Amino acid sequence: MTTQRERIILSPPHMSGDELRFVHEAFESGWIAPLGPQVDAFERETSDYIGRPQALALSSGTAALHLGLRLLGVETGDVVLCSSLTFIASVSPVTFMGAKPYFVDSDEDTWNMSPRALERAIDDLSSKGIKPKAAIVAELYGQAPKWDELMPIFDRHDIPVLEDSAEALGAEYDGRKCGTFGRYSVLSYNGNKIITTSGGGMLLLDDPESREKAFFWATQARDKAPWYQHSEIGYNYRMSNVLAAIGRGQMLHLDERVEAKRAVYERYEKAFSDIPGIALMPEAKKGKSSMWLTSITVDPDETGTTAMDIWKALGDENIESRPVWKPMHLQPVFEGCGYASHDDGISVGDRLFENGLCLPSGTSMTELQQDRVIETVRKALKR
Ligand SMILES: Cc1ncc(COP(=O)(O)O)c(C=O)c1O
Repeated sequence: MTTQRERIILSPPHMSGDELRFVHEAFESGWIAPLGPQVDAFERETSDYIGRPQALALSSGTAALHLGLRLLGVETGDVVLCSSLTFIASVSPVTFMGAKPYFVDSDEDTWNMSPRALERAIDDLSSKGIKPKAAIVAELYGQAPKWDELMPIFDRHDIPVLEDSAEALGAEYDGRKCGTFGRYSVLSYNGNKIITTSGGGMLLLDDPESREKAFFWATQARDKAPWYQHSEIGYNYRMSNVLAAIGRGQMLHLDERVEAKRAVYERYEKAFSDIPGIALMPEAKKGKSSMWLTSITVDPDETGTTAMDIWKALGDENIESRPVWKPMHLQPVFEGCGYASHDDGISVGDRLFENGLCLPSGTSMTELQQDRVIETVRKALKR
C-alpha cells in the first residue's frame, strides 16, 4: 500500500510515552488490581483538573452513568429526560434501572439539548401527570449545551441532572469545565476519546457520602463484615490500577490535545469556508469546545451531494468518517418512548442526522493527512 492510501482513523488513541513511566510504577508496586495508588492518584489529578471535589474511577463511562442514575434514586417505572442526539451509552443505563427515557431534541446553535424542546418535554409529561425523575444531558462532540438556559429550567422543576461529559473532557462553558454542571458528571476514557486508558470512565461528585455509596456499588456491595456479606446488589465497575497509570500519563497532555483538536477544526473551517452548503458544527457562544470530533452538515441542494456520498468517497480513499449519531428517538430499540422536538414539525436532530458527518479529528493527524481528507471532500462535491 502506498503512503497516499494509508488509513486515516476518525479519532485514534494518541500516546505520549509518559504513560509507560506510570505503568512501570504500577508494575513495580505490585498493584495489578482494580485498586491501588495509580487509581487514587488518577482520581485526585482528575478532580483537581476539573475542579470537582470527588472522583471515582470506573471501568467505563457507561458504568459511571449507571451509578449516577442509581445515586439519583431512579427506579423501575420512572421517566428520565435524555438528549436524543447522542451515543446510545448516554441512554442505555436508564433501561438498566427499569426506567424509561423521554427524548429531547437539539438546538441549532449547539446541537445539544434545546431549552425550548426541554420545556415542551416537561409540559407534555406534566399534562400526563408525570414528573421526570432525572435528566441525562450529553455534551456532544466536545461541546457543552446552553447550560445557562437549561439549568434554570431543571431547577424550577426540581429535576436533577446527570451530565454526560464522555465526549467533552477538556471543554468549557462560561469559564467552567465540562464535568462541573451536573449533580453528578461522567467522563469516558474509551479508545477514541480525547484521552484514553484503552477503556474506562470517571464519576465526578461533590460529597464524600455519595462517592462512598457509588464505590460500594462499584465493588460488589460488600457489607462491613469480616466475611462476604451482601445486603444489596452491586457491580464489578472499578478501574484497574494499570489502566489508571495510562490515564495519568494521558492527563499530562490533555490541554495540548484540546488545542490540537481545535487546530484540526480550524483547518477544516478555513478549507471549507468558500463552499456554499457545507457548514461546521457551530461553537456555542459561551463555550470552548474540545472539538473532539469536527462535524459538518452537507446541504444536498447547494452541494449536489449528500453526507453519505462524502462518507462513501472518504471510505474509498481509506479514510474513516462517521454519520452524525442517529437520534435515540429514531432507534428501533426505543420505539414508543416519548420525544419533544424543537418545535412543532421541526426536529433539529433528524436534520443533523440526515445531513451530518463527523470527519477525522485525531490529534496525531498530520496536516498532509488532513489535506487528503479535505481534497476528498472537495472532489465529492458535484457543484
Ligand atoms: C456521549 C457518550 N456517552 C457515554 C459513552 C460511554 O462511555 P464508555 O464507552 O466509556 O462506556 C460514550 C462513549 O463511548 C459517549 O460518547
